[in-house]
Amino acid sequence: MADPLILAIDQGTSSTKALLVDGACRVVSRASAPLAETQPRPGWVEQDPEELWQSVRRAVAACVTPEHAGRVVGVGISNQRESLVLWERRTGEALGPLLSWQDQRTAAHCRELAGSADLVRSVSGLPLDPMFSALKARWLLDAHDPGRRRAGELCLGTVDSWLLSRFGGEHLVEVGNASRTQLLDVGTGRWDARLLELFGVPAGVLPRVVPSCGPFPAVRDLAPLPDGVPVLAVMGDSHAAMFAHAGWRPGVVKATYGTGSSVMAIAGAGSENLCRSIAWDLGDGPVPAVEGNIRATGRTITWLAELLDVPAETLLAEAEHADPAGVHVVPAFGGLGAPWWDPDATPVITGLSLATRRAQLVAAALEAVAFQVEDVVAAIDEAAGQVRVLMADGGLTRGDRLMRLQADLSGRAVARSGERDLSALGAAGAAGLAAKLWTAEELERRARPADTFEPAIGEPERQGRKAAWHEAVRRARPTGE
Ligand code: G3P
Repeated sequence: MADPLILAIDQGTSSTKALLVDGACRVVSRASAPLAETQPRPGWVEQDPEELWQSVRRAVAACVTPEHAGRVVGVGISNQRESLVLWERRTGEALGPLLSWQDQRTAAHCRELAGSADLVRSVSGLPLDPMFSALKARWLLDAHDPGRRRAGELCLGTVDSWLLSRFGGEHLVEVGNASRTQLLDVGTGRWDARLLELFGVPAGVLPRVVPSCGPFPAVRDLAPLPDGVPVLAVMGDSHAAMFAHAGWRPGVVKATYGTGSSVMAIAGAGSENLCRSIAWDLGDGPVPAVEGNIRATGRTITWLAELLDVPAETLLAEAEHADPAGVHVVPAFGGLGAPWWDPDATPVITGLSLATRRAQLVAAALEAVAFQVEDVVAAIDEAAGQVRVLMADGGLTRGDRLMRLQADLSGRAVARSGERDLSALGAAGAAGLAAKLWTAEELERRARPADTFEPAIGEPERQGRKAAWHEAVRRARPTGE
């Protein structure tokens, strides 16, 4: 047979990407299809499950030529996490929209459950927060099956689960994705009866939890791929990016700089302000991870671009050499995520003067990205041990300024990935590993960063700048300690 290919599909929040890699794990083709979201009310964020599936079909059709199609030996999938869909088991038809991970409609329910926060955290590894799927499950069921009489007829699922359902067969979820629902016992990798009861979710609507290497149903209706190409690996997108960084090596932490950011390390030990989840299970048992999620990193820049009506690229270019001059932007839109987990925090800008110009504001917003990431890296360092290197990926890492800032404010080397579709590459890596196209050692060699940034300021200056940032964070949190 001609050189085998792996097709990776990364179903993300704003688009679906498809990537073909050859037997040496080199990208030979890539394509993407956009995906819209709607905000029907303040704080609500929805997507159309059918459009989401069609975006997968469009991305694959644009990426895979008929000549490629016959060479694809397996498919790897990575996907946006925590977002939830409810559908009819018999027809596969979605009931209502997908509730996005960004959706905040259940914030009030979180407050109602505050008395159970310790149980939820100790079992699921996650803080009570509207980002996770559990309260979205309750909301969808309350809307479509308030009496919980249709458990056997309905299916709830994360995006991987929804995509796999398009291929037919059993209702399944990959274990790493399941660990972000807040319904799973993160220690055992099984649904937890106490959490199901607390969130009002009958076990009958939930998928069966399977390892990241399946077994999964083979693809169907994904032209030009022939039906029957096996799905060899599924991972949450952040987990897949971690995998692409060969993040299983000790001392490695990765940060993805997207709309928000996920900072993650493979580690069993966590702390109060970090999430514990399952990175993946490639057949040797679940691999534990700690993670901190930051709500607004890239979103802070796009917010400024919208506010000032100037393209984000222009703003970033202007700010390349600007000094924030004492300005701090704390982008607590919808509260603050890790390590503060404060839903009552509000956005603040401190240190403004009549001399402040927009370049300073953008420089401060960029600093806020680096400070927020560093706050989580420091928490991981404290909980899980020596962080040696921060592996960076995502759209915002293209600018050197942010990478230099990150190294300075963190006091650690920052290694930037040269690959823009890292989650897809991670899914391809895991699928190719299952197909025995390469070994874990080869993936480690391929994970070499494009370049590395070293800290250029001393400890006293770093501590001073961090203290000023934390003072601004304190002002964003009127009710926080
Ligand atoms: O946890 C949410 C995350 O998985 C979404 O990722 O890349 O679609 O913004 P992305």
